[in-house]
Amino acid sequence: MGLIVLFWITLTVFVVGSVVNACPPADREALLSLRNALNEPYLGIFNTWAGTDCCTNWYGVSCDPTTNRVADINLRGESEDPIFEKAGRSGYMTGSLSPSLCQLDRLTTLVVADWKAISGNIPACITSLPNLRILDLIGNKISGEIPAGIGSLSRLTVLNLADNQITGSIPSSIVNLCSLMHLDLSNNKISGQIPTDLGKLTMMSRALLNRNQLTGSIPTSIANIYRLADLDLSRNQISGSIPSQLGSMPVLSTLYLDSNHISGGIPETLLKNTGFNILNLSRNSLEGYLQDVFHSKSYFTALDLSYNNLKGSIPKSLSAARYIGHLDLSHNHFCGPIPMGAPFDHLEASSFANNDCLCGSPLRTC
Ligand SMILES: *[C@@H]1O[C@H](CO)[C@@H](O)[C@H](O)[C@H]1NC(C)=O
Repeated sequence: MGLIVLFWITLTVFVVGSVVNACPPADREALLSLRNALNEPYLGIFNTWAGTDCCTNWYGVSCDPTTNRVADINLRGESEDPIFEKAGRSGYMTGSLSPSLCQLDRLTTLVVADWKAISGNIPACITSLPNLRILDLIGNKISGEIPAGIGSLSRLTVLNLADNQITGSIPSSIVNLCSLMHLDLSNNKISGQIPTDLGKLTMMSRALLNRNQLTGSIPTSIANIYRLADLDLSRNQISGSIPSQLGSMPVLSTLYLDSNHISGGIPETLLKNTGFNILNLSRNSLEGYLQDVFHSKSYFTALDLSYNNLKGSIPKSLSAARYIGHLDLSHNHFCGPIPMGAPFDHLEASSFANNDCLCGSPLRTC
């Protein structure tokens, strides 16, 4: 009995699949409108967007094999694809993203990345694509704001809008993207504050908001994102102090807070953490003493605390660290003898330059 049912299901899928072998005309129309609003003069990728079956041999388009609805648009301007060879593997495209793409309501992937010159806004109707999992528009000239309703994309795992000219603030609805794993808004013109409840995004492993104009303080709720491995808030105008909870995050390994207006002390939890690989707090207004809390499990490929107002002596426990690749304590108010032993053996004088009264190797003897 089970076998017969399986046979019928297989047959049905086979028959339906072979009858509907071209993409639905409405999907084809939507793709053609998308194409008409874009201009790719060098490679001719859109020359492949011809004929009735958009599911076959249309560059960057793929369809769901059972429904034949358009599922993926994957147009990357930097590619190893042979079609890119004549343009030195780097594409260029102008124009804008037509709202007609929102008619592709089975779309799961929209990648239109690294074309350098696509401008215009992100169509707000994109928030009505319920199956969208990947939205990657990195490396264009897209302006305007992130659609306010972005939070309705409950299946979105990747939101990458980096290296564009996006303005406005981070929409508060973003915290509803319950599947989001990778958020990259870096290098735009985004202003306003980071939503205080960003910590609701507990699936997130990378959050890159660097090189924008963000103000306000670092939301403490971020510490609830227990999968977060990379957090980059550098080169903004963030103020307030560093939440000590950040130092207790289980897998956080890179933390960039450099070039902001962060004040207060460096939480001891941050320095004690054994999972941190890169900690960059350079160019802020951090003050107070550096706690003597390093130990044999401390392992930093880079620890950059330069250009702050830190004072007192360099903690002796730093020499107990298992590894410190790059250490920069320059441009602070440290004083007293530089501890001896690894990692201080391999450091240059520049790591300690411009302090109040440090001495000992590699600086002058005490
Ligand atoms: C830390 O940040 C500063 C300022 O943004 C930058 O100049 C420096 O290269 C960074 N250091 C490391 C080790 O990444």
